Amino acid sequence: MKVPFSPPRIDQKTIDAVNEVLRSGWITTGPKTKLFEQRLAEFTQSKKVICLNSATAGLELALKWFGIGPEDEVILPAYTYCSTANVIEHLGAKPVMVDVGDDFNIDIEQVKTKTSAKTKAIMPVDIGGNPCNYKALNKLLSAPEIKEKFKANNKKQALLQRPLILADAAHSVGATYNQKPAVHGADIAVHSFHAVKNLITAEGGAVYFNLPEEFDHELIYKEFNTLSLHGQNKDALAKFKKGGWKYDVTHAGYKCNLTDIASAIGLVELERYKETLEKRRAIVEYYHRYFSDFEWYIPPTFKTKDKESSYHLFMLRIKGIDEQTRDAIIEEISKQDVAVNVHFQPLPLLSYYKNKGYDIKDYPNAYKQYAQEISLPVFYDLTQEQQEYVCSVVSNCVNKSL
Ligand SMILES: Cc1ncc(COP(=O)(O)O)c(C=O)c1O
Repeated sequence: MKVPFSPPRIDQKTIDAVNEVLRSGWITTGPKTKLFEQRLAEFTQSKKVICLNSATAGLELALKWFGIGPEDEVILPAYTYCSTANVIEHLGAKPVMVDVGDDFNIDIEQVKTKTSAKTKAIMPVDIGGNPCNYKALNKLLSAPEIKEKFKANNKKQALLQRPLILADAAHSVGATYNQKPAVHGADIAVHSFHAVKNLITAEGGAVYFNLPEEFDHELIYKEFNTLSLHGQNKDALAKFKKGGWKYDVTHAGYKCNLTDIASAIGLVELERYKETLEKRRAIVEYYHRYFSDFEWYIPPTFKTKDKESSYHLFMLRIKGIDEQTRDAIIEEISKQDVAVNVHFQPLPLLSYYKNKGYDIKDYPNAYKQYAQEISLPVFYDLTQEQQEYVCSVVSNCVNKSL
């Protein structure tokens, strides 16, 4: 039996939706994308949503929009995908990494220690779909000593009067925090719709705006729209209208809009997302029940009284093993055609960040979690038989190695 890691859920419904757009005469950003944005705003009860061609683009635009650049610092966990840090680098700001807790999420106490007058944003990451501690983070950032430290460099920063909470919520589509969609924990949150994610558009992402009331969310949407289209003050649909050819460029923007072809896939995915989430939850619960019999099993956090994960990843951890043993276990599992993965290599282990002076010794818990972690397959079409096979292969390989 072969078990892939996370193939996309593509069926006739998806194919028909894409075909409809291909035949419609409008394939780039247009009515389907606007509808997808509206549906996503309803789904997350957000004030405003914009779709872009990746989560990475959304994170970068948000930092740019808030006026972050050289001399500024942005705090993020060392345990994340490179995208979270790369966007800070692109803008010439400094990524300030902090360690994570035993749930893989950013350690709020360390955020407190590392916040300086230069800190302009915090980027928590909902690893595997498990929302981070937004309550503690919001409480920390509204504390008088943090507000006093904050030095606003522009009107938006002056309006917020504290660092921006920009959530890398790439994994947490459908996760909840305090009985609300988890995106509400942040001022701006970004989902990814990349091909291996819970909800796909092949490539894509959405940015959710839930800033304080003082901010004009319609204006923010327009600003992001312009930023995503070269700084042009008209999008393709507006230019297409009779006599609408003339436009201005107000600044040197990016090019990262989402196409209607992609949004058509997203609309199908969103319509059936409840079912997707239920299936993912059932798989994760099955794995959890199975592995609970083993003394070496460290259970991932999926549900607490405050929050529920989007069940994006099943991040298995094996008590006390080192990195070499973990790698050897993965090799044995792979020989039996079960595709597994590791989420993530902490950033200080990667050449670019290592060469910039980040040292993994400063992030001991990130390294500890990484060394004992193996992500197991979770996807909609995973059959009961395949789940049983994964459990038996993984537990045999772990038991043999201990
Ligand atoms: C934690 C995290 N952040 C950001 C991203 C970037 O998402 P995208 O590929 O949509 O830019 C990913 C993608 O894997 C991710 O895992």
